Order: sequence, then C-alpha cells, then structure tokens
Amino acid sequence: MRILVIHGPNLNLLGRRDTSIYGDKTLGEIDALLKEQGRALGVEVVTFQSNHEGALIDFIQEHSGSADGIITNPGALTHYGLSLRDALLDSGLPVIEVHLSNIHGREEWRSRSVIAAVATGQISGLGWRGYVAALQVLTDRLKTDASP
Ligand code: DQA
Repeated sequence: MRILVIHGPNLNLLGRRDTSIYGDKTLGEIDALLKEQGRALGVEVVTFQSNHEGALIDFIQEHSGSADGIITNPGALTHYGLSLRDALLDSGLPVIEVHLSNIHGREEWRSRSVIAAVATGQISGLGWRGYVAALQVLTDRLKTDASP
C-alpha cells in the first residue's frame, strides 16, 4: 500500500515560519516521522512539496495510478486552488486534508477550503500530530475497506 503526502506552498519553511502558529518541526522532520510511521503500519509513504500548483498537479497525475490514498496540506492553495482540487478529484483516490493550524479560528478567508468537498475528511489545528492521525486513519480505512 502506498500513500502520497503532498505539501503546498511555503510549507518548506516549517520550523522557521511563524512557529507560534505552525510549530517548530521542520518539513523534513514531519516527513521522516510519517515514513517511520508508515514502516510500522506496513505502508509506503511518498512525500512531495512544491511552491507551484502545476508541479503539485503533475506529481498527482504521475503518481496517483500507483498509490492508494493522499494526505495533503495544500497551504494557501486550500483557499483558491481549483486546479489542485480538480487534480485531487480526478485521482480517484481518498484524500485527507490536513492543516497544522486551525483554519476555522483565524482570518475569515482561511476558513473556506475549496479542497474540503473532494476530501474524505479534514484535520485542522492539531499541528504535526494531524498528519500522524491522518496516516493512521487513512491506512486503517484502506486496510479494512471501511466507509465511516
Ligand atoms: C495551512 C493554513 C493555510 O491557511 C496557510 O496558508 C498555510 C498553512 C496550515 O497548515 O495551517 O500555508 O495550510
């Protein structure tokens, strides 16, 4: 089983970027943690980050055929990235949307996600642990072929 973990714009700056909001773990640390968790769960975790919407879409188109699910934090593309939304939908894969911060408790524009409607679910405000929870839930659902 293979899970794609896809990070959007500016998430490469984690660890330096407003740590009071996004926490102090770097993206490399989060990815390493997920790969380790994946090994324990018997799942291959493939990670990717880009600051460019087109590159994220290319990655999804290239890899979705050989993957079973997607975990994504689209960064600010969450709020307006319609091409990314379509690519996630076209992948035909279950998608879990993750946000480090609580997008519903910040500026009003952040609470609107164009991704949410094509996602199985959203985890927001739990910091890096949100990714860990997403991987656990997605793997569990895929292994047990579960609906809710
Ligand atoms: C974010 C929230 C977005 O509003 C913001 O643009 C990000 C990160 C989060 O993880 O909390 O880049 O997706």
